[in-house]
Amino acid sequence: MENSGLLKLNTFTPRETVSELDRYIIGQDQAKRAVAIAMRNRWRRQRVPGELRDEIAPKNIIMIGPTGVGKTEIARRLARLAQAPFLKVEASKFTEVGYVGRDVESMIRDLVEVSVKMVRDEETQRVQLRAQELAEEHLLDVLVPPRPAGLEDRPQAPSFSDTTLGRIEPARASANGEPSDATREKFRRMLRDGKLDEREIELSVPDRAGVFPMMQVFSTSGVEEMNMNLQDMLGNLFPKRTKKRRLKVPEALRVLSDEEAQKLVDNEKVIHEALQRAEQAGIIFIDEIDKIAGRESGKGPDVSREGVQRDLLPVVEGCTVATKYGMVSTQHILFVAAGAFNVAKPSDLIPEMQGRFPIRVELHSLGREEFFRILTEPRNALVKQYVALMATEGIELEFDDAALNRVADISAEVNSRTENIGARRLYTVLEKLLEDLSFRAPEMNGAMVRIGVEEVDGALGDIVQDQDLSRYIL
Ligand SMILES: Nc1ncnc2c1ncn2[C@@H]1O[C@H](COP(=O)(O)OP(=O)(O)OP(=O)(O)O)[C@@H](O)[C@H]1O
Ligand SMILES: [Mg+2]
Repeated sequence: MENSGLLKLNTFTPRETVSELDRYIIGQDQAKRAVAIAMRNRWRRQRVPGELRDEIAPKNIIMIGPTGVGKTEIARRLARLAQAPFLKVEASKFTEVGYVGRDVESMIRDLVEVSVKMVRDEETQRVQLRAQELAEEHLLDVLVPPRPAGLEDRPQAPSFSDTTLGRIEPARASANGEPSDATREKFRRMLRDGKLDEREIELSVPDRAGVFPMMQVFSTSGVEEMNMNLQDMLGNLFPKRTKKRRLKVPEALRVLSDEEAQKLVDNEKVIHEALQRAEQAGIIFIDEIDKIAGRESGKGPDVSREGVQRDLLPVVEGCTVATKYGMVSTQHILFVAAGAFNVAKPSDLIPEMQGRFPIRVELHSLGREEFFRILTEPRNALVKQYVALMATEGIELEFDDAALNRVADISAEVNSRTENIGARRLYTVLEKLLEDLSFRAPEMNGAMVRIGVEEVDGALGDIVQDQDLSRYIL
């Protein structure tokens, strides 16, 4: 069982991972390398034979860097690449009022949920074709009801052998005087040709809006475990409700094939695979870890930061957590922590915690050159986003390079004069620059708009000159 085939881990080499990340994140090479190596180490460990494999623990990473320079963004992109169960948590949420003493282990349970959903989606995808076939048969049963029992039962599979024997379709008339197999095939053809798309049929579908919404009332109280079991219990207690719905044929096919897929997917197997994947390949990103650094007890109603670190320790170190799907060992889960560490330093974490995160990478604050590149280069670059948004109004938006350079300059300058919020400054500056256009766009019927340096200075010049004004507006 242990090695039911190697886990389907991402096979990127570190260099490939870095170049994938490069498509979205400018600079920060050190951090990219570290996460790329960590990911590859997963793959390597899977290939280490025997006992040694279990001894190899992941090298957890702390990303240190000011706000808005790509820490979260790197983790987010890594998650997509990794095809591994991934969970992001804010360390500070464990200290918040209202979450008092919130069980740190809940992040492992959440990770397992992610993993289960991931595996279930994959399995569902795998049985899709079969499910569609079954759904088609089911739908034909509704459209061409089998003859009532008593009359000869509709032959299931052998109906084809009749014809292969060279016999013409037997003239066993059904109630409406037509051979039902032939009718069925006729309907099948019509169905596939889309000729029944406008027909409506009545189906009983499971009514999912059931017990659960009301249950949410409990879940803030922090008694996660109880809540979780309660949900399961109640879910099983109430019979699955169904309701009749009239659906157009294509929609009905979709509903039926979802239902068949659910039946085809082997739940036991999904859970087994999901648990294994969470244990062996899971990644947990702990954001804002600096918010729990500091050894003094928190003041006021906050839970002590050190307390949270102590709770976190065993989870990072490797312990076993009970989830509703079974026990999960956290020993090989990779933890990536991130924080700005403006006030607290990594050395303010309790020593045991420091030891659990042996790899430290620094992310650098961003300057005007990076800003220019961030505006234009990434797949999801801000400028591309605005161009696409304006295109929906029929407006062709273009930026001169000089204008974008000016935007980068202004952003860097405002960052240095007021507060350095990193690349997020680009958002506020661009938004201000394009505010007027965004407002008037629908009335401009398809103009072409070109943003040059003059436009940038016109819209932003005064604000940038005035310190107080820029503090509020940009
Ligand atoms: N190096 C970068 N390359 C491309 N885009 C970036 C870069 N750094 C930041 N951004 C952009 O700025 C936004 C904010 O970055 P991100 O969320 O990664 O900040 P962070 O480092 O996690 O900051 P915080 O400490 O405040 O959480 C991102 O959505 C991204 O679009
Ligand atoms: Mg962040």
